[in-house]
Amino acid sequence: MTAAEQWAAELRAWAIDQRILDAAEDDPYDLPPALFAPESPSEHEPSHLHEAVRAALPPDGSVLDVGAGGGAASLPAMRARTTLHAVDQQAGMLRALEASAAEAGILATTYEGRWPDLAADVPVADVAVCGHVFYNVADLVPFVRALTDRSRGLVAVELTDAHPWVRLAPMWQEVHDQTRPEGPTVELALEVLAEAGLSPRVHERVRAPARRTGELLETWVDLTRRQLCLPRARIEEVRELMTRHPAGARRLVTVTWAGAGR
Ligand SMILES: C[S@@+](CC[C@H](N)C(=O)[O-])C[C@H]1O[C@@H](n2cnc3c(N)ncnc32)[C@H](O)[C@@H]1O
Repeated sequence: MTAAEQWAAELRAWAIDQRILDAAEDDPYDLPPALFAPESPSEHEPSHLHEAVRAALPPDGSVLDVGAGGGAASLPAMRARTTLHAVDQQAGMLRALEASAAEAGILATTYEGRWPDLAADVPVADVAVCGHVFYNVADLVPFVRALTDRSRGLVAVELTDAHPWVRLAPMWQEVHDQTRPEGPTVELALEVLAEAGLSPRVHERVRAPARRTGELLETWVDLTRRQLCLPRARIEEVRELMTRHPAGARRLVTVTWAGAGR
């Protein structure tokens, strides 16, 4: 089995049982834009991704952000006169990004749809960024090739050490009495990149768990409830589960390579 096949198989293993999905009140896959805002409290530590983007971005340059969410991977790295092309499959994320870009005085164009399906509709940029999207992508090689083709300078990707749903595994075990997968991991992602002919630079640091308060904390608890496929009436049980199974520190990995676009 190739690393790319292994990656796809490990992602498939996260599929939620149909009977649990059918009984869920809310979509467990829908992400709230508020948790992915560029200045959310979880983003206060210095970011190697932003530093890499800033260093590679010419004064009038352009950034392509794929799976942009609210723009957390790109907007904080941009300056006046640089432009942003943001791709996401979730319209609500793009509306939030447009508002943040307008506030920061950054000219942003948004593209709603799935990467790499709409890659040909998006201009080649000086830098392509992709933050916390790989674990959503079963067919990683064409996704990565399109990123490389749509950047004439740098491609910069950020991801955590393992699939973000790994944090839910002990809670899922208690609620649904099912063992969840432990991967895929960033190491497997790097093997897939090697198979695709890339030799990226890799930078790692340890990120402390986010300290959310107020409305953001409530949004985070509610997202966990939805991801556990529990009804709204069981929100206090989710809060208690999260206290007993707190999120730990994670390795945050930045992977960069040269773009091939013209
Ligand atoms: C976890 S969020 C990360 C958002 C942002 N990049 C950040 O670093 O905060 C992942 C985002 O990628 C989007 N996404 C996932 N797969 C995608 C694909 N194949 N094409 C376009 N958007 C995708 C989701 O809709 C979501 O907004």
